[in-house]
Amino acid sequence: MSELNTALEHPTYNYKVVRQFAVMTVVWGIVGMLVGVLIAAQLAWPALNFDLPWLHFGRLRPLHTNAVIFAFGGSALFATSYYIVQRTCQTRLLWDKLAAFTFWGWQLVIVSAAVTLPLGITTSKEYAELEWPIDILITVVWVAYAVVFFGTIMKRKTTHIYVANWFLGAYIIAVAVLHIINSMEIPVALTKSYSVYAGTVDAMVQWWYGHNAVGFFLTAGFLGMMYYFVPKQAERPVYSYRLSIVHFWALVAVYIWAGPHHLHYTALPNWAQSLGMVMSIILLAPSWGGMINGMMTLSGAWDKLRSDPILRFLVVSLSFYGMSTFEGPMMSIRTVNALSHYTDWTIGHVHSGALGWVAMISIGAIYHLIPILFAKPRMYSVGLINVHFWMATIGTVLYIVSMWVNGILQGLMWRAYNQDGTLTYSFVESVAASYPGYVVRFLGGAIFFSGMLVMAYNVYMTSRRDVESQAVPATAGAV
Ligand code: HEM
Ligand code: HEM
Repeated sequence: MSELNTALEHPTYNYKVVRQFAVMTVVWGIVGMLVGVLIAAQLAWPALNFDLPWLHFGRLRPLHTNAVIFAFGGSALFATSYYIVQRTCQTRLLWDKLAAFTFWGWQLVIVSAAVTLPLGITTSKEYAELEWPIDILITVVWVAYAVVFFGTIMKRKTTHIYVANWFLGAYIIAVAVLHIINSMEIPVALTKSYSVYAGTVDAMVQWWYGHNAVGFFLTAGFLGMMYYFVPKQAERPVYSYRLSIVHFWALVAVYIWAGPHHLHYTALPNWAQSLGMVMSIILLAPSWGGMINGMMTLSGAWDKLRSDPILRFLVVSLSFYGMSTFEGPMMSIRTVNALSHYTDWTIGHVHSGALGWVAMISIGAIYHLIPILFAKPRMYSVGLINVHFWMATIGTVLYIVSMWVNGILQGLMWRAYNQDGTLTYSFVESVAASYPGYVVRFLGGAIFFSGMLVMAYNVYMTSRRDVESQAVPATAGAV
């Protein structure tokens, strides 16, 4: 491996750390989604937990969310941000050794999560389940990441800072603040701590964190990715640089207020709930500003979609981004939330963002990067990228449509009353009615997951083979 790394050393840029994170994106994508498929299967066929505590849904669910968000999504963000910041600042990363530390440190965080969560070691705060020693490790790695990223920007050889770096910079700063504030806890043992917050304050801090994890980790970071890879792959300039700046400031200013929409009809004061709702509705505008800017970048280059499956991944991800950021504001309206909350509609919304937007844009970006990082003219097989594209699209659609149907079905069944005021349906009847949706979701997830295996094969073959000798059109992954 070290010989391979030496052979692939780039004279100007540090591609080694980018390559390491890019490969781990595929690996963690497979692991995280496999756990997703397993828990999807457990919801249809509960016996699949085999009565083993560490295979139980309650323990595997946080393993899934941590693996897909922080291991898969995080590795994709590290890889692309290190690549983008070097290319757009035309300089090498500030400090190779510190960058290497972020790679190994982040992998250690992930492995610690993969061990502790199935053992039932958890803070029980959603998306912040990891216990305090791992929290400290995350903080150290993240500060190192910030030093490498901002240090590279400071020694840039260009005059301006390209907009992708604005989004990536905002994501790095916001995630640091969110993680530190939400993880304030008092350790009582090596594997147990209690939050310093209590009651409603705890809930508010948690969902301020939770929603901004969506806003800055799952959105701002990936918008940074979008602003680099969509213009690159389409070989067109960004549609409007001015729109990108306007929607950047609007997005970061508004997102931070929207958290209370997770706490409708709770003990949180009414005014705070309404504020969260209003800010969420306003959020539609900057979200769509970004989506439109990305889409319109293809003006005059739409024909490329016919031959370039990487561009298809990027464009379809933008459509899902537009869809989920239309749906989110709608679900934040209190009366709509009265129906959607606690149902599978939320799960459908999550995965239209997570599979449709986050996973698809990451996959597109990684396909763009792999040939460059392994010094090959293109991916081993463009045909297989196309197969992956269709598997990912069909898988996502099956997943989210089944969850919409289930969600609305559950919401309506739970609120149906008889004339005498008793409930029309028992809870278990709504579970039975949800069964077909769970089977379809499992199928959709399994198809999406299988697409990741196709990707892994394509990446492996690209790294190993002399792709020059393959009879495939040279349309994708241009260096
Ligand atoms: C093969 C693909 C995937 C499958 C089959 C899958 C399946 C699942 C299942 C069954 C749940 C639990 C739902 C419930 O509790 O009712 C879940 C939750 C979740 N998944 Fe996935 N998932 C996949 C991919 C992803 C990806 C790529 C991401 C993020 C980038 C993601 C993020 C989440 C999140 C955030 C939750 C928690 C949602 C909530 O609490 O409302 N998933 N997933
Ligand atoms: C304008 C943008 C968005 C708004 C206003 C919004 C709003 C909402 C609302 C109202 C909920 C349901 C809260 C509840 O009933 O408990 C929700 C849940 C969620 N959304 Fe969004 N959403 C947006 C975009 C996105 C995107 C792009 C993603 C993913 C990439 C995403 C990921 C999630 C997750 C993970 C949850 C589940 C949280 C949980 O309960 O565990 N959202 N969102």
